[in-house]
Amino acid sequence: MKLMLTKDYDELSKCGADLIMAQINAKQDSVLGLATGSSPLGCYQELIQRCQNNLVTFKYVSSLNLDEYIGLSPEHQQSYRYFMNHHFFNQININQNHTYLPNGVHPNLEQACIEYETKIDQVGPPDIQILGIGANGHIGFNEPGSSFSSYTHIVKLAHSTRQANARFFRSIDEVPTHAITMGISSILKSKKIILMASGQQKAEAIKRLLDGEKNEQFPASSLFDHPDVTLIVDKEAYELV
Ligand code: GLP
Repeated sequence: MKLMLTKDYDELSKCGADLIMAQINAKQDSVLGLATGSSPLGCYQELIQRCQNNLVTFKYVSSLNLDEYIGLSPEHQQSYRYFMNHHFFNQININQNHTYLPNGVHPNLEQACIEYETKIDQVGPPDIQILGIGANGHIGFNEPGSSFSSYTHIVKLAHSTRQANARFFRSIDEVPTHAITMGISSILKSKKIILMASGQQKAEAIKRLLDGEKNEQFPASSLFDHPDVTLIVDKEAYELV
């Protein structure tokens, strides 16, 4: 695991954008594994600017997102599809037919999981996967206790995860109770992985990760099984190490 220590969120976002831009400039039809949440948001903003300045093109790029809430349609403002369209895809020159997320409103959700795993294999695996990390060590929506050999599946969200994500909803009651997520084994299919963590609220998780113990109770520790992981952390997230 490579470690890049940055002074703040801004520098972290630029570092992430540098790695993604280098990937696309080396291979124009790269497949990106993308994540939602605050961690990659600055990186997306940086990439939007670079795309607008013709430093990178997304014309031939495809993307596969990690996860989606169950029960929220693509038009729902808190769905991850809406997040991705609004914060990234609508502002770059990507072909939106080549952007994929799990279908959280599929009439047969088990089927939706199978279809998404097939999609990962057909389109991907991603050349580069971006990850955030939950305070409890979750990656995607793989909560503590998730099997490291899991593929795309339905998860019941931990109460702490719903609480952390309630800031985007009117109240915690509106936060979905379930989601579809790529499994740990699906995530590990990616050729490269970048995990970004910023701020004090991630410090405990980063300390635990760097302690190095592999344990299904701490999903991010599955990354030790991958040969090409870069951890980009800012000072605050690193302060307990
Ligand atoms: C969410 C997402 C994850 C994300 C994590 C951290 O629940 N499902 O993919 O990485 O929580 O989010 P943030 O980056 O906003 O701290």
